[in-house]
Amino acid sequence: MPQTLKIVYFVEPDAQALARRTAQHIVEQTERAVAARGRARIAISGGSTPRAAFALLADPTQPWIARTPWAKLDLWWVDERCVPPDHPDSNYRMTREAMLDHVPLPAGQIHRIEGELEPETAAARYESELRNSFRLEGAEMPRFDVVALGMGTDGHTASLFPHTQALFELGRLAVANHVEAKESWRVTLTWPVINRAAHLFFLVAGADKAKILKDVWMGPKDVERLPSQFIYPEGGILTLLLDQAAAALLPPPDAQGWGTIERNA
Ligand code: 6PG
Repeated sequence: MPQTLKIVYFVEPDAQALARRTAQHIVEQTERAVAARGRARIAISGGSTPRAAFALLADPTQPWIARTPWAKLDLWWVDERCVPPDHPDSNYRMTREAMLDHVPLPAGQIHRIEGELEPETAAARYESELRNSFRLEGAEMPRFDVVALGMGTDGHTASLFPHTQALFELGRLAVANHVEAKESWRVTLTWPVINRAAHLFFLVAGADKAKILKDVWMGPKDVERLPSQFIYPEGGILTLLLDQAAAALLPPPDAQGWGTIERNA
């Protein structure tokens, strides 16, 4: 693993431009994976920020729905809330309404986390589906082609929340995680799995995320308090797609909108 993490961030003026940049980025990375490996296995996040980009990917008036190689795409989630798939808090429901109901992605290529089941059962079933689909043996871990992450104002990503048990899971692929702060259970990919991705990016928007972004990527290492700091791609390069409000406390980007931060391991 490289000793220095290179964080490359792109800053868009507003949330709408960021959604367009994100849709473009997802399609480019998907095309790249299909060109290199014949398939694209992508794991996406939930929450509110990705919804606009997902809607653009499904929008017939935009270029991306036709460009996306849906027949060669396998869709996974980095985490899920332990609620039924039609519940307002369901990441699957958000993705279905914004995108899946409107695109030609075969049902067999949609691998949702069964939030309606008992958390440990949902995590175990998701883990075995990962093992079967990626044809893993022994302690092998899956390598996603693209993992799209978000970040909470508390520094969590996926459902890896501060000071929770899931932060210490090194051998499992997916685990149930009780989040005291939310008095609820989540199922999440573990950070070793996330870090194996061929391409990893964070999508973060809004002024309420500016301080946490600075703390996570420019502050002292404190992974249990700031779990996003566990994210360290094997290739040593991490991409952040941001809007100006979220990037307000980072070094100003260059004229093309790009900025870079180097961080020791
Ligand atoms: C979830 C997500 C989570 C999300 C952050 C940011 O299930 O909530 O996967 O990790 O990315 O909480 O959420 P917002 O985009 O709503 O700020």
